[in-house]
Amino acid sequence: MTPDHGKNAKFATVHIATTPEERELCLSVRYEVFVDEQKVPIDEELDAYDDVAVHFLARLGSDSQAVGTARLIVLPNGHGKVGRVAVRRDFRRCGVGATIMAALENSARESGLSLLILDAQLHAIAFYQKLGYRVYGPVFLDAGIEHRAMDKTLEPN
Ligand SMILES: CC(C)(COP(=O)(O)OP(=O)(O)OC[C@H]1O[C@@H](n2cnc3c(N)ncnc32)[C@H](O)[C@@H]1OP(=O)(O)O)[C@@H](O)C(=O)NCCC(=O)NCCS
Repeated sequence: MTPDHGKNAKFATVHIATTPEERELCLSVRYEVFVDEQKVPIDEELDAYDDVAVHFLARLGSDSQAVGTARLIVLPNGHGKVGRVAVRRDFRRCGVGATIMAALENSARESGLSLLILDAQLHAIAFYQKLGYRVYGPVFLDAGIEHRAMDKTLEPN
């Protein structure tokens, strides 16, 4: 990561992926981060929730390159499930992940969701805690990676 990335990351823009091209960019970030980097099998990385989830795309720089993503699933109980939060390696630790989560939470509030839940990889727990998420429950394996459950109550806008 260069210092320039850090400066520019403050101007990362995040929006909901609406076109097939934007959704492909979200999936390409996930492929790079989860499949290539973390060795998650592709058939576990992609699932049926991708068809119903809201996908968020973070872009950065003068060329608007895709640098991060996340997805939000509205559960039948009215809670939101956050998942597939990913920032390309060279753009980490300069605010992109937090910007994605802020956009996702705003969208969740607008949809009337009052609680967000997620399964955090152990290394990412501190990232979510900084954003107000609470960790609970035991460590469990998903795709061979250790996780713990977290949640956050959303205050209405
Ligand atoms: C987890 C991830 C999304 C964080 O994205 P990011 O863009 O690096 O995060 P940010 O730069 O917005 O960080 C926001 C805050 O969390 C902190 N933070 C980020 N990653 C952290 C980590 N691994 N450990 C501790 N703190 C962390 C930052 O220092 C920053 O703190 P600050 O506000 O005090 O400066 C990114 O590391 C990633 O994509 N990892 C690989 C994929 C992954 O494991 N995703 C999570 C699946 S549950």
